[in-house]
This record gives sequence, structure tokens and C-alpha cells, in this order.
Amino acid sequence: MPNPAELLDLPDFERAAKDVMSLLTWEYVSEGAADEITLRSNQRAYDEIRVVPRALVDVSRLNTRVSLLGREHAHPILLAPTAYQKLSHPNGELATVQGAADADATMVVSTTATVSIEDIAAAARHPLWFQLYVQPDRGFTRELAQRAEAAGYEALVVTVDTPALGPRYRELRAKFNLPPGLERANFRGRPTATGAQRAGEASIFSATLDPTVTWKDIEWLRSLTRLPVVLKGIMNPDDATRALQSGVAGIIVSNHGARNLDTTPATIEVLPRVAEKIEGRIPVLVDGGIRRGTDVLKALALGANAVLIGRPYVHGLAVDGARGVTRIVKILRRELEMAMAHCGRPTIAAIDSSVIWR
Ligand SMILES: Cc1cc2nc3c(=O)[nH]c(=O)nc-3n(C[C@H](O)[C@H](O)[C@H](O)COP(=O)(O)O)c2cc1C
Repeated sequence: MPNPAELLDLPDFERAAKDVMSLLTWEYVSEGAADEITLRSNQRAYDEIRVVPRALVDVSRLNTRVSLLGREHAHPILLAPTAYQKLSHPNGELATVQGAADADATMVVSTTATVSIEDIAAAARHPLWFQLYVQPDRGFTRELAQRAEAAGYEALVVTVDTPALGPRYRELRAKFNLPPGLERANFRGRPTATGAQRAGEASIFSATLDPTVTWKDIEWLRSLTRLPVVLKGIMNPDDATRALQSGVAGIIVSNHGARNLDTTPATIEVLPRVAEKIEGRIPVLVDGGIRRGTDVLKALALGANAVLIGRPYVHGLAVDGARGVTRIVKILRRELEMAMAHCGRPTIAAIDSSVIWR
């Protein structure tokens, strides 16, 4: 493995991560559903969008600040929830939360983290959001939401794109299972804590995902907590309209990193149609395939208020722990700043659809 300081961009970190990860972890992190058509198009769709430089604008005072859910963020790059981070680094989520703070990034903590809600919050030096998978046991779901609120998380990100598992053959071939000593820390004491039922799962449903969830449950969740509720996994413009009616505080256009339903459009293709329905009334975030500062610029130009990255920071975590997570965000932010300068957009608010070459 090269010296991490010599890794310069996200593809460098991805290659290095492949070297340091076990085969099982690599397959689990990098896979997409089925033929991985959407996995490829999430990235390719960005490559096919062209941006237009703008000359002779004073960009000497670049400013990447954005406001989301009532709080100012230093830049528009958040860490998407990813499960089982101890697979990638012995300190798992505790390293990520440290790396996120050093990059001024908000981490969205997964329900299926390998460190508990409370232990991550205790180590945090920067605001956190909590990602919730509604559980078949609604009493336990309520508990998770209330634990996150009590621990000081600032938003509840409800993932709505996973009524069933996706056909993820790479992890099945690698016989994915949580290695001994790793657990879903928030499920401690419950039969699902070790994830043992996962490999070779006969049913399309998981014991920790509830296929009965509907819009009614979103209302119920909103009634349980004072935290703003954000829906993650909106890909249908009609669902965006429905989300507005449900009173949620924000939405994330996401196809779960192409891990669930293959052959959906790329998220960046869907974003403008969703943004058109939302008309700026609540924040719209997007994730999937963002690997360059120009990708972030394109997402902001096409209607996103902010973006999230998943796999890239997991690669950083595997390669160099907290420092690797920080590097990934800082590299992306620096590339974004360069793109803003070249496109003559000194602020995030100045990034509109005229950045895109049509
Ligand atoms: C290894 C891995 C684990 C994930 N775990 C979760 C999870 O627990 N909850 C969730 O809502 N999304 C999860 N996701 C999806 C991410 O939040 C995000 O939508 C996706 O990774 C974005 O795409 P990108 O990896 O191309 O940036 C996971 C993704 C990966 C790669």
C-alpha cells in the first residue's frame, strides 16, 4: 500500500482500499444490485454532463457555506449512512465521526452501525444526523428515534427505499456475514444483533426492515420526535409531491448507492424532476456516484441543496482511519472550490442551472 499522504484523489483511495480490505469487505462495500447497471450509471451520468466556465468574475473570496435544517454547514458535503464500519477499520464509526469533525462534515449515522447511537454521539465534535430503518417492532423503532433525539442528533433520516433486500450476489458469493466480535450495536441483546440471518437469506425480507411501512408511518414518526424528519431514497417525482404533503423537513434523492433495484435511472438524472416538484420549499439532497468536485457542482446546479457521499469515505476509513475520512471530504471540497472558481460562482447560491452546458 502506498503512503496514504501520496493518495491524491478519490480513485487513488478506492484502489488503495481494495488492497487493504478483506475480500468480503471489498465486495460488500463496492457491490451494487444484480447487473450493477445503475451502479455504473450513477457515476457515468455525471461524466456525461458538461459544465461551462465563466471568465472574469472575482472569485477571490470563495464561500461554500450552506444552510440546512436551520444550521449553517461549512460546505455541502455530508457523509451518507453506511452500515458495519468496523468491517473497514477497527474503530469503525468512532474513526468516521472524528474524521467527519476534522472536515467540518455532518455524518449520518446508520441504524446498523457497529458502534451505538450513544457512543458515537459521545465522541462527536460536530452535529450528527441519525438514519432510521423502521423496524418490524414499532416499540423498538420508537426507542431508536428517541435514543437519537436524547443523544443530541439533529435530524432523523428515514430510509424509505428498502422494503426488501436487493439481489446482492457479490456479498452472497463472498459469504457475507458479520465476523465474530462485530454486532449491530443498537440491537444489542436482540436476536438480530449479529446479523446471522443475513447470508443466504431465503426470504426477500430482512428481520430488520419492515415491508409494511407507508406514509402513515411517516406521520407517526413525526409525532414521536421533535427532530426534523428527512426521507432518504426518493426516486419518483410523485413521491416528492407526497413527501411535501407529509410535512417532512427534507428529502434525499437516492437509489441506495444502486444496491437495491437495478436499472433505475441515475440519481442525477432524477434530481431535476424532483427539484421541480419541491420548488425550493424543503431542502433536496442527492447521493450516488459523486466522486469529483465537478459532480458536486453539477448536483447543486441541477437542484440539490447539498450532497452525500457513501463509498468514498468508507475507502478513506479503510486506508487511513479518521485521517482518511477527513482527506476524502477535503479533497472533494477543494475540487468543488476549484470548479466554482472556474465557473465564476463564488458562492453556493450562485450555482444555478446555467452552469450546465446545454
Ligand atoms: C457499504 C454500504 C452500506 C450502506 N448502508 C446503508 C445504511 O445502513 N442505511 C442507508 O440508508 N443507506 C446505506 N447505504 C447507502 C448510502 O447511504 C448511500 O445512499 C450510497 O452509498 C450513496 O452512493 P455512493 O456510495 O455512490 O456515494 C449504504 C451504502 C454502502 C456502500
